[in-house]
Amino acid sequence: MKGIVLSGGRGTRLYPATKAVSKQLIPLYDKPMVYYPIASLMQMGIRDILIVTTPEDEERYRHLLRDGAQWGIHISYCRQPKPEGIAQALLLGRDFINGAPIALILGDNFIYGEGFNQSLTRASTLTSGAINFAYRVSDPERYGIIEFDPNGRPLRLVEKPKKPKSNWALIGLYVYDKRAPDLAAEQKPSARGELEITDLNQRYLDMGQLQVEKLGAGNAWLDTGTHDSWLEACHYVQTIFHRQGQMIGCLEEVAYRNNFITAEQLDRLADEMKASTYGQYLKALLA
Ligand code: DAU
Repeated sequence: MKGIVLSGGRGTRLYPATKAVSKQLIPLYDKPMVYYPIASLMQMGIRDILIVTTPEDEERYRHLLRDGAQWGIHISYCRQPKPEGIAQALLLGRDFINGAPIALILGDNFIYGEGFNQSLTRASTLTSGAINFAYRVSDPERYGIIEFDPNGRPLRLVEKPKKPKSNWALIGLYVYDKRAPDLAAEQKPSARGELEITDLNQRYLDMGQLQVEKLGAGNAWLDTGTHDSWLEACHYVQTIFHRQGQMIGCLEEVAYRNNFITAEQLDRLADEMKASTYGQYLKALLA
């Protein structure tokens, strides 16, 4: 399975904080936001990752993430000239995908929890159909939502409904079989001019090939779409770190635990950052 991180968009909802820098490059507590979705993909065992950025931001992403070899993975880059929809990433990344199953994750999505890690592992074995993840929220009108029938079977997906009939929001992680780019190519732009990911997921649902996994309350899906929700997400990461001594979204740690890099490589990465608590955390992993 390959992975795509969608890190384009204008980030206008966080202006002026994101006026001069891409939203997914601003930090969530101690590391850039884009580390978190990359860590989720790496937890799935994915080692081949495409980062989709705006043309203006590509260089900054390359500067930060390089070719991924430092984490034992391979990172490549692709430009999205205009934010014309999440599903467009599957078209832009078609050559990269090259017939593999694909996990598409939004660069500003933050998901954490024991149960979620197990869900990721299961999702990484998908070969046919698609998987969406749903999370219960109090403000469903802000998201794509999923309605269920009385037997709990997925019924319908609706993008930002004015009067939501369900509190289950679809989080920004989508796992697809190899047909996804072809199906996305058949889509028409929505009223807001985007190739909607919800339409692609609905297509899989119509074919009877969409699995929806509900994430329990023990997991955290935090939004970073407003100044307040961004700050809450920062505090969440800080709290887990202070209380449990566990860093969330630490790429070096995931790489080391997955045996993508050796102890010696981790040690070198830690040395580069030894002046920060981040670097000291990496050193402590080797103790
Ligand atoms: O966060 C989950 C929600 O993400 C889902 O529940 C919705 O179904 C899905 O449509 C999406 O909702 P938003 O409208 O809130 O997505 P937004 O336009 O904020 O884009 C999400 C991220 O993807 C953001 O970091 C920017 C990036 N993006 C988005 C679009 C449309 C791109 O890089 N390119 C794009 O063309």
